[in-house]
Amino acid sequence: MCGIVGYLGNQDAFPILIKGLKRLEYRGYDSAGVAVLSENGQLEYHRRKGKVDDLLQHMEGKVPDGNMGIGHTRWATHGPPNDVNAHPHLSGDGELALIHNGIIENYHALKETLVARGHTFYSDTDTEVLVHLIEEIMKSSEGLDLFEATRVALNEVVGAYAIAVVDTRRPHELVLARKSSPLVIGIGDGEFYIASDAKPIIEYTKNVVYLDDEEVARVSLSSGLKIRTIANHKVTPVITELEMAMESIEKGGYEHFMLKEIHEQPRSIADCLRGRLRLGHETIRMAGIDDHEEMWAEAKRLIIVACGTSWHAGLIAEYMLEDFARIPVEVEYASEFRYRNPVIGKGDILIAISQSGETADTLAAIRMAKEKGAHVFGICNVVGSSISRESHSGAYTHAGPEIGVASTKAFTAQLAVLALVAMRVGRLRGALDQLRFNRLLVELDAIPEKVEALMKSESKIEALAELYKDRPNALFLGRGYNFPVALEGALKLKEISYIHAEGYPAAEMKHGPIALIDENMPVFVVATKDAHYDKVVSNIQEVKARGGQVIAIVTRGDTEVATMAEHVIEVHNSDDAFVPMLSTIPLQLLSYHIAVKLERNVDQPRNLAKSVTVE
Ligand code: G6P
Repeated sequence: MCGIVGYLGNQDAFPILIKGLKRLEYRGYDSAGVAVLSENGQLEYHRRKGKVDDLLQHMEGKVPDGNMGIGHTRWATHGPPNDVNAHPHLSGDGELALIHNGIIENYHALKETLVARGHTFYSDTDTEVLVHLIEEIMKSSEGLDLFEATRVALNEVVGAYAIAVVDTRRPHELVLARKSSPLVIGIGDGEFYIASDAKPIIEYTKNVVYLDDEEVARVSLSSGLKIRTIANHKVTPVITELEMAMESIEKGGYEHFMLKEIHEQPRSIADCLRGRLRLGHETIRMAGIDDHEEMWAEAKRLIIVACGTSWHAGLIAEYMLEDFARIPVEVEYASEFRYRNPVIGKGDILIAISQSGETADTLAAIRMAKEKGAHVFGICNVVGSSISRESHSGAYTHAGPEIGVASTKAFTAQLAVLALVAMRVGRLRGALDQLRFNRLLVELDAIPEKVEALMKSESKIEALAELYKDRPNALFLGRGYNFPVALEGALKLKEISYIHAEGYPAAEMKHGPIALIDENMPVFVVATKDAHYDKVVSNIQEVKARGGQVIAIVTRGDTEVATMAEHVIEVHNSDDAFVPMLSTIPLQLLSYHIAVKLERNVDQPRNLAKSVTVE
């Protein structure tokens, strides 16, 4: 979704804002804008449809001068991406400039009232309404400054927001607020850095304050950081130290972040297992479970909520948890779950899986589950994210920042954490005997090395990408643990190459997709040697009998499928439950290379956003 940056200090604001916007561009990239305020209160702003580079091009020779400013990358919700709808938006008198991430749901009603009071609007956005509302409050309530007027205005707003506002009459002060959309304040030496997440801040300072929901902040060169709730209660800022390393947000020699992140998986899975998987002790240590053993042992049911790729991880977790822990599990799209009237309450544990920890629907689902009395266990990648902070307990995936929009290393790290959870809970509930547990520990421990070995297949996969890149459709099939892998393979291809792809349980193919199969349809089948192997082999025969072209992911040394498939890619063997961490890698590489060959923008595919903070 949209990305917000801000700066207040003694340096030139503009280069800091642009660098920050580039770091946040993965969040939204259909338009960009900046506003810079000079020492004497002169406001200069520029907005442009397209990427940050388009904005820079448009601004050539017009670098604004000033030590305070705000910047924005947009992912359109209200109004198409164009120069006029790009942020910042200005008040009618031009004194205020505001940037916003989120949605003002009651913007229409607010707009009507403001129009009746003589306001005119130039854009289609909900954001413009908010800046006019603040202006109106400042005008009608003599004496209210920007901070107070913003606080009062937000009491009238329904929806989600992270905002930054400047007032030309107060060139040493920046006002910020958040509800449901993230906002981080970096505390430097006499300067402040604002951003939607920590990535633009890390190179300047490690000390940050995460704004909480319904908080309004004022950062000022003279009086520092002050926070109040929108209900006007004082809040004492809590400074947190960032653990992120600079290298983790650079491409490190790779052409794209996605490729870097695919190659990081041996390390990211190992990081995720480190300290938790204790081979020598024959145990798993996970604070989020260790501290609530009784609750996990007695839980009636687990409900997993997530979106996108994280939902696919949830599906695999369902199989693992049922297998290892013998506990009923439901997996739900967060967006569906929260708008039903689900039966959930005390005794249930809701597991929320989210890379960003900010996905609006997942966040709303956990709030609902909490209200109904369930315990919420959050599995997030981004440290300090909203979901991680609002969960009762949880586990980080420790995959490091994931910047490519299509999720890769976060997915396999989620699978690693979920494997640990399923095994740990399996032991707790007495459903997994020590012998099998120990065997699983050994298998899980070996996964990073097996993932590393898979990278050697990259040139073969790249050649396959050349062969299949021009096909308009593709089918992905798998069974059991590999069914969600097929879904994920299809999603990856769709997301970054824009090729229509469907993932299906191999046996369900007969009930529809088989009608699509002809000699032009590539069918990617995950056919590793697992409990369903023979059945999948039969499904391959069904595809072949209809002229389909089969590209199969097989277990090393498999000779049977090789005689039927056009191409095979081998992965190492492992326990069925852990094979997805291997079988998904060739599909990630395949999508990546197809997208590169089609000259797509791999890291920032059209219409998608990395962190979906609107519902
Ligand atoms: C977006 C991203 C996906 C991600 C999904 C869920 O659609 O593009 O890569 O899987 O959101 O995000 P989350 O951060 O909650 O895992």
